Amino acid sequence: TSVELGEHRHYMHKEIFEQPQAVIDTLEGRITQDQVLVSSFGPKAEQIFKTVEQIHIIACGTSYHAGMVTKYWMEDIIGLPCQVEVASEFRYRNPVILDNTLFVMISQSGETADTLAALHQINHYRKVHDLDGITSLSICNVAESSLTRDADMTYLTHAGPEIGVASTKSFTTQLVVLALLLTSLGKVQKRLSKERESMIAGGLQKLPNLIRMALEHEEEIRDISQLFADKQHALFLGRGTMFPIALEGALKLKEISYIHAEAYPAGELKHGPLALIDETMPVIAIAPLDDLLEKLKSNLQEVKARGGQMIVFEDERSDISSETSFKVVKATTNVGRITAPITYNILLQLLCYHVALIKGTDVDQPRNLAKSVTVE
Ligand code: G6P
Repeated sequence: TSVELGEHRHYMHKEIFEQPQAVIDTLEGRITQDQVLVSSFGPKAEQIFKTVEQIHIIACGTSYHAGMVTKYWMEDIIGLPCQVEVASEFRYRNPVILDNTLFVMISQSGETADTLAALHQINHYRKVHDLDGITSLSICNVAESSLTRDADMTYLTHAGPEIGVASTKSFTTQLVVLALLLTSLGKVQKRLSKERESMIAGGLQKLPNLIRMALEHEEEIRDISQLFADKQHALFLGRGTMFPIALEGALKLKEISYIHAEAYPAGELKHGPLALIDETMPVIAIAPLDDLLEKLKSNLQEVKARGGQMIVFEDERSDISSETSFKVVKATTNVGRITAPITYNILLQLLCYHVALIKGTDVDQPRNLAKSVTVE
């Protein structure tokens, strides 16, 4: 391939470290100090965004997890109904589609067969039911792709070429674009105050630095990854937007280390997974300083009481670390609702990468997986 590996052992490692720059490139020309430029979505965007009554996000794999984070953001920050669905489900059921739905198709490659078929399904439905208010927006990393060709609007992530099969910088830049979409919709529909917009814009400007700070934890995370040398299972826990981040962590660990991993919203622990907890199953918890922290802490006590080994990613100002049986990475301070999931995910990427090194797998080309799944 024409992309140089440079000092890095793997493309995945290189791509993890490219994330500050990928965010800068994705924001370029689309944001000012305190505003998001709606016009960056194209000349018709403002008019279309005004009429949108609900969002329906469709994607696969890691891109689907970006959609899941967005559902929390959309409903919480601007109060716009939002649903998320994997493309292979959407395309084979008979969905009820309401007029004035904005479909958001997220795909790094723009070539994933299921996502593309879902878009064709939407286009067909719109024609048959004569619903002019339905619009599709593709969020892609590849400009000249099938998805960008067939969607009504396209917004590119400027992550640069991603070679590692497991997606890293694409996910991060997808979330950046989705934050821009959320802010644009909120602004046009007057669901977002100027102050709020300026806070989001400011947070996105700070993001490259927050990511750099997260990357500085690599050594510490590498040490912790030793714990996985003889493990076959892992459980990721999070609440709120950290639940999809937990899912993404579990997916990454499965993909590149072949360790069986699951993710649960921490509140569901008692409804099943608690039965699995013992010293052979590490539990990874994502614990930002937010309104759910106290609830999460009591979930972690339940794990501790059953002899589970805990790895906690928490805010510098939190105090979970006082618990001796926990390994804690104290990271990201001052992250907001938009920047937190993006920043914590970086720490999980590093963890999964280092676990894969210990397991000796083919990090960039995991067995049985493809970068872009263009067949059914
Ligand atoms: C494959 C890749 C994943 C990716 C998914 C969706 O499974 O291995 O990393 O998240 O496809 O790909 P897309 O290009 O549509 O984002």
